[in-house]
Amino acid sequence: SGAELNGASGEMVPELEKATVRIKHPEHVMGIIRSIKEQGMSKLQVISDFDMTLSRFGCNGRRCPTSHNILDNSHVVSEDGKKKLKDLLHYYYPIEIDPDRTLEEKRPLMVEWWSRAHDLLSQQKILKGDIAQIVRESDVMLRDGFNELFDQLHEYDVPLFIFSAGVGDILEEIIRQANVFHPNVNVVSNYMDFDDNGVLKCFKGPLIHTYNKNNTVLQGTEYFQQLSTRTSIILLGDSMGDLTMADGVPSVENILKVGFLNDKVEEQRGKYLDAYDIVLESDETLDVVNGILRYIL
Ligand code: C5P
Ligand code: MG
Repeated sequence: SGAELNGASGEMVPELEKATVRIKHPEHVMGIIRSIKEQGMSKLQVISDFDMTLSRFGCNGRRCPTSHNILDNSHVVSEDGKKKLKDLLHYYYPIEIDPDRTLEEKRPLMVEWWSRAHDLLSQQKILKGDIAQIVRESDVMLRDGFNELFDQLHEYDVPLFIFSAGVGDILEEIIRQANVFHPNVNVVSNYMDFDDNGVLKCFKGPLIHTYNKNNTVLQGTEYFQQLSTRTSIILLGDSMGDLTMADGVPSVENILKVGFLNDKVEEQRGKYLDAYDIVLESDETLDVVNGILRYIL
C-alpha cells in the first residue's frame, strides 16, 4: 500500500501516504522532489494533460465526460450523430487503453478515430456561440483540489502547459467557467475552425491524438524554447501517451511524472508503475500534486 511503501516520504509530503499512491522507487522519487525544491520555483514548469487528468474520470460510479464527450452528448448533436459518435467510442476506446497493443499499432487507429469523430462533429452545424452553454449543461467536473493547483501555480508564476488531445475550445471554456484560466496557463489542443457565420466547418491541424503528444505537433509554437531556463518539470497525465509531453523541453534537469491510473487498474498497473514515478490509482483528487507543490513552493 501507499502507506507502507512511502513511510519516509510521508514526513515531507503527507499526501504520499494516501492509499491511492503507488511508487516503484520511493527513494528515487523523493530525490527528484528534493532537487526540484532546491532548484526553486523559478526553475519549475508544469506540463499537464487535460481530460481525465485535470478533469475527473468518474463521480458516484458514473463516468465523467471528456471534452469530446461533452460535444458528443450535447443538445446540438442530432440523435443519429450521437449514435455514430458513441459507436466510435465503443470501438476505439478499448483499443486506446489496451495494454497488449503497441503504440505503433495504436497510432493509425487513433488517427482514424479522431478524424471520423471530427468529421461527424463538423456536420452538426455547431455554433461558436453555443460552446459556453454546452459546457455549462455538461456533467464535466475538474478534480477536487483544482482551485488550489491553478491558483498556487499562478501565485508563484509557474507556467502551466495544458497539452491535450481533446477539444481546445471546450477545455478552455471549462477552465474559464471554473475561474482558473489565469495568464500563466497555455493550451495546445485540437481547435475548432468556424466559418464567418460562426458555424463549425472543421478542426484545425495538426491533429493531436493520444499517441502523438510530443514535439512533432508543437513545431513552430516555440513554447518550450521560451521557457528554456525552467529545467524542473512536473508532468501530469493519465495515459501512456502523456509520457512524451515534455520531449520538446530543451534541457530537463529534474522531471517528476505523476500518472492517474483510472481504468483497467489491475491490467495496466505494471506498465504505469514502470513508466510513471508516482501512480495514483482511482484517485479523483489533485491532493498528491498539491501536497508536492506545497512542499516545493
Ligand atoms: O486531454 P486528453 O489528451 O486526455 O484527451 C484525449 C482523451 O479524449 C482520450 O483519453 C480519449 O479517450 C478521449 N476521446 C474521446 N472522444 C474522441 C476522441 C478522444 O472521448 N472522439
Ligand atoms: Mg487524458
